[in-house]
Amino acid sequence: MKALILAGGAGTRLRPITYTRAKQLVPVANRPILFYGIDALVEAGITDIGVIVGDTRDEVIDALGDGSRFGCTITFIPQESPAGLAHCVLIAGAFLGDEPFVMFLGDNLLEQDLGAFVGAFDASGDGPDAKILLKQVDDPQRFGVAELDGAGHVVRLVEKPEQPPSDLALVGVYLFGPRIHEAVRSIVPSPRGELEITDAIQWLIDRGSTVTAEILQGWWIDTGKLTPLLEANRLLLDKITRRIDGSVDAASALVGNVVVEAGARIVRSRLRGPLTIGADTVVLDSFVGPHTAIGARCTVERSEIEHSVLMDGSTVRDIERLEDSLIGREAEISRSRTKPRALRLMVGDHCQIDVE
Ligand code: TTP
Repeated sequence: MKALILAGGAGTRLRPITYTRAKQLVPVANRPILFYGIDALVEAGITDIGVIVGDTRDEVIDALGDGSRFGCTITFIPQESPAGLAHCVLIAGAFLGDEPFVMFLGDNLLEQDLGAFVGAFDASGDGPDAKILLKQVDDPQRFGVAELDGAGHVVRLVEKPEQPPSDLALVGVYLFGPRIHEAVRSIVPSPRGELEITDAIQWLIDRGSTVTAEILQGWWIDTGKLTPLLEANRLLLDKITRRIDGSVDAASALVGNVVVEAGARIVRSRLRGPLTIGADTVVLDSFVGPHTAIGARCTVERSEIEHSVLMDGSTVRDIERLEDSLIGREAEISRSRTKPRALRLMVGDHCQIDVE
């Protein structure tokens, strides 16, 4: 079994993160989203992985390397423009050959491990030609939605339906046998100009293929759908185990699952986990509360931070209370006593600032 990870497409819509354009590389609990997907595939025993890369290919290739640090081999497959999920299968044809494969959207995060989902798939003989992973959602209008028959087989797939036939949304993980290649070659672009994977799967169903489904246990976050990032950060931090590789002085107190990476210094501060402090970051005379991920080389001084993500190299100084915030790289937030008292801001494009 091989895997195809889709990490092309447009850059991040989380605009404050201007330095990380690839949305799949936005960090959650101090690790790029994409890394969790690769780990999940490797844990499921899949080590031959193709990665579709687009405009942001340099960043993605740089971050993943040859895959050896994840225990897999990575083949990069460039895509000229984001022409659709089925287009990705089309251009990966030579890499995939006739082997069954998992297709994984690189900006999705899921809690469930993939071993059982992948292991039970047998595309040979009478087996299904595709298997999809579904999740019950409150707002199916925003997703690709599946309609199942009494036996749990997929009878119809619709993209962002106004009248959803069910509340079962397509999670970004699919299993395919080799017949999908004929499907992606046969379909035509949708009204939005993309080769849709839902059309390719529907093509299979219409020609008598069996397409099965499994309902996902645990949480799933489509981080490409904007701000669930803090939510994903919270869910992943809930799973960390305590590890202190940096230094903590005697005047500091650490409670709960706290990760302090090597080179970080905690001075006269209180840390209440779950939280992570990145390498070479300094936390001085501060309180860091639950569900906070502070990146590498940050400075936090005389401040209180909770339920937030600070990306690498950022500084927070003399801020009484910072909550529910996402701070991009090398950003600086501070309070000065200079008169006249005023807010002095240098804010990048598409940022959001909420003043008390
Ligand atoms: P999205 O653009 O999020 O695909 P979607 O169909 O889920 O989006 P929408 O909500 O607009 O319908 O892309 C999902 C992942 O696939 C993401 O990591 C980018 C990648 N991708 C490619 O690599 N090539 C492509 O042509 C497209 C469309 C996406």
